[in-house]
This record gives sequence, structure tokens and C-alpha cells, in this order.
Amino acid sequence: MSKDDLKQIKPEVKRETFSTGMAVFFATLGSAVGLGNIWKFPYMTGMNGGGAFIIVYLIFVLLIGIPIMLSEFYLGRKTRSNVLGVFDKLKASKFWKIIGYFGLLSAMFIMFFYSTVAGWVYSYVFKALRGDFASLATMGIDEARKASEAQFVQASSTGIAPMIWQFIAVAVVAVILIGGVKKGIERVTKTLMPVLLVLIAICAIRALTLDGAKAGVDFLVKADFSKLTTSSILAAMGLAFFKLSLGMGTMVTYGSYFNKENNLIGTSVKVALSDTAVSLLAGFAVFPVVFTFNLAPEGGPGLLFSTIPLVFSLIPFGNILLISFFFLTAIAATTAMISMVEVPVAILKEEFKLDRKKAVLISTFVMFVVGVLTSHPHSVFGSAKIMGKSFFDFFDYMSSNIFLPVGGLLIAIFVGYFVKKSDILEEFNNEGTIQNGSSVKLFLLVLKTITPVMLIIVFLNAVGILKI
Ligand code: PHE
Repeated sequence: MSKDDLKQIKPEVKRETFSTGMAVFFATLGSAVGLGNIWKFPYMTGMNGGGAFIIVYLIFVLLIGIPIMLSEFYLGRKTRSNVLGVFDKLKASKFWKIIGYFGLLSAMFIMFFYSTVAGWVYSYVFKALRGDFASLATMGIDEARKASEAQFVQASSTGIAPMIWQFIAVAVVAVILIGGVKKGIERVTKTLMPVLLVLIAICAIRALTLDGAKAGVDFLVKADFSKLTTSSILAAMGLAFFKLSLGMGTMVTYGSYFNKENNLIGTSVKVALSDTAVSLLAGFAVFPVVFTFNLAPEGGPGLLFSTIPLVFSLIPFGNILLISFFFLTAIAATTAMISMVEVPVAILKEEFKLDRKKAVLISTFVMFVVGVLTSHPHSVFGSAKIMGKSFFDFFDYMSSNIFLPVGGLLIAIFVGYFVKKSDILEEFNNEGTIQNGSSVKLFLLVLKTITPVMLIIVFLNAVGILKI
């Protein structure tokens, strides 16, 4: 074959695909499992009253999350394109490209604050290595709680250290993405994800044998619906989007790397279930500690950072486990960030014809420069407010509660109403090799009716237009 022939077939072969079904599963799970499970899920459950919030969250995962994940997989694998290019390939009206632009904006907004929290996690690995938490083991309950909370305030709001850690977190993502080490990531997630699961399980088991375990478990499983407000319902929906990396094209982009044989429905159900299991385990690790050490369940973003060092202080060789726990959380945060940044990178690369390195550097540069505004929610920029919220809360609120659900709604409407049913059936049955006609029909029915209606009701209710 001559060089010219090779060049001609290049556009067809240039898109890599994940190697096996296992690799698809772990890469997708690597995107879904992140700070959302380990950090956000527990503290949001705490702030929104516990069990009832979890039930509402699970309903959203089932009726909104899975259908939208399937729609994103469909768009990605069918077109093998980034989230802007998808609509050209499907010859759809230009209007739909708004989904891609929303995706870009969401990726930016999420990274602005996510990288700050990832920085805290990185700094905790360092602090644990330095032995900063060793003395907790020798203290009484109240003293240990105060010391642990003080450590978090110090790590998140003193000097320029939080910004440096944030920079390191973004730089690690940039280096991995520039290297384009999809295979490396694939391998890293495949080996380290199971280790993280084991560590969270150890943490949960120890936590469940504490004095406050019963109160902690009750908090998670007893549903008191009177504690739910419209804003907590909106928050549960936003969390489902955030958790499963939906509404901004991450799953379109990853779907575009799936192999032809992958069973899309199977993958989405497995990812959603495993992701939920990790979130619940994190809840079981955190709340018994909260009630044993008299922390406030509604304590907010610092919850994880104050509780985990306390559990490990009660375990022999706890410091080694503590180091591993935060190290693996850093990995989970990093693989999630990689999938987030891959959205603008794929767009810049394919639509704006930049090379991969430039695309990565431009994306991460913007993410860091604006993101640094969120790195001091408690001090330097603490008083600066945008729409009555700190920068940190503003970016978090806008992305999870507005951009992702709006992006998700548009995706649901597009796939539900503007794509031929026969095309969808064909893509999901892998050219007739899987017998899943009735599951696909059920998925389409939910996608066309329950998903958009629920989304719109929660939305209008939360902004006060509709009162239920
Ligand atoms: N799902 C990730 C988490 O739970 C966050 C994420 C959101 C990743 C959107 C990619 C896109 O931490």
C-alpha cells in the first residue's frame, strides 16, 4: 500500500476504540466514579436530610440518568464524533449544536471548582504522608473532631498552598491527556478502581462498628420526606447528572470510542449500578463517624475531609490506609477530570483542527486561571460574590442544576424525537446480534415521555414558575 493510500484510509482509522468490553466498562466507570461519589454524595445527603434525598436521587438515576446515558452512547458510537461534530454527521439542524456549546461551558464550569477539590485531595495525600493526622489517635472524641476540622480549614484556606495543589491537579490531567495515554489510563483505572473499592469497603466496615453506627445508618436509610424541599429535589437531579457525567457530552465522547460489539444497554446499567454502590458505600463510611464524633451532618463540602482521618485514626496501621484512601480518591478524581477535559479537547481537535497538545493546553489553561477563583472559598476570594454565591458555589450550582439538566433535556428531545426509530434499534442491537428489541422500546418510551416531563417539572418548580 502506498503512502497516499494510507493517508486516504487514515480518517477512517484515526479514531481509537477501547479494546474490550471490560475496558469500556472501566473507562466509563472511571468517568462516573469520582469526587461526586466520595465527596459530594455524602455531604449533599447530609445537607438534604438523608434517606428521602437518596430515594429521590435513585429515581432520577433510573428514569433520567440511564435514558440520557443511553442517548449519549447512541450519539457517540453512531457518529464516532465529538459532541459538536455529532450534529453535522447526523445532518441535523444547526440549532442542536447548542448541546455541544452547553457541553463546553459545563466542562469549564465543573472543572473550575472540581479542580479545587481535587487539589484538597492531593494535599491530603501529602499531609497523611507527613503524619499530620497521627495525633488524632491519641485524642478524645471532641478534641479529635476539632483537630480534624481545623486541619481541613488550614488545608483549604491558608496561604497559597490550595492554589498550588489545584495547579498540580490540573497539570497532572494535562500531562496525561497530552501523552494521549488512553491505554495507560485504561490500565490504571482497571487496576486501581478495585483497590479503591476495597478501601472504601474497609472504611465503611470500620465505621459501621462505631458507637454512632446505628444513628448513621438510620440517617441514610430512614426516609423522612418532610425534610425534602423543592431545592433539594433539584439538587438530587443535578447530582444524578453530575454523578453519571451526563448532559455535557462526556458520554457522547466516550461512546465514540466504544467498540462495535459493546452492549450499550448492558454497559449503562452496570455503570449506573456500580456508581450508585460506590456512593452508598461512601455514605456508610462517613455518617457513622459523623454521629460518633458529633459532627454536623449538614456540615457541607468539608465533611469528607473531617471524617475520613477520624475513622482511620481508629484502625491499626490507619495512617497507611489513610494515605492509600486519599491517593486512590485522587486517582478517581483525576480519571473523572480526564473525561471532563476530553470534551473540549475533542472539540478543539476535530472541529477547530488544533493538535492534541494545543487543545489540551488551551483547555487546562482556561480551567486553571478561572478555577483559581474558587480555590479560596473561605478566605482570599471569600467575600467576592456572584449572584449571591461564592465563586465555588456559583460554578457548582450553575453546572449541576442548570447546564447539565438543560443539556440533558435537549439530548433527550433530540434522540427521542429527531432520530429515526429504526436507526436507534439498529445501533442498540449491534446489527442484529443482540435480541433486545423490547428493552430498546422501553428505553425509547421512557426517553420520550417520563424523562423530559420529569426534567421540566423539577426545573420549573425549582425556579418558582410552577408550584407543586
Ligand atoms: N462523574 C464525575 C464524578 O462523580 C464528575 C463528572 C461530571 C465527570 C461531568 C465528567 C463529567 O465525580
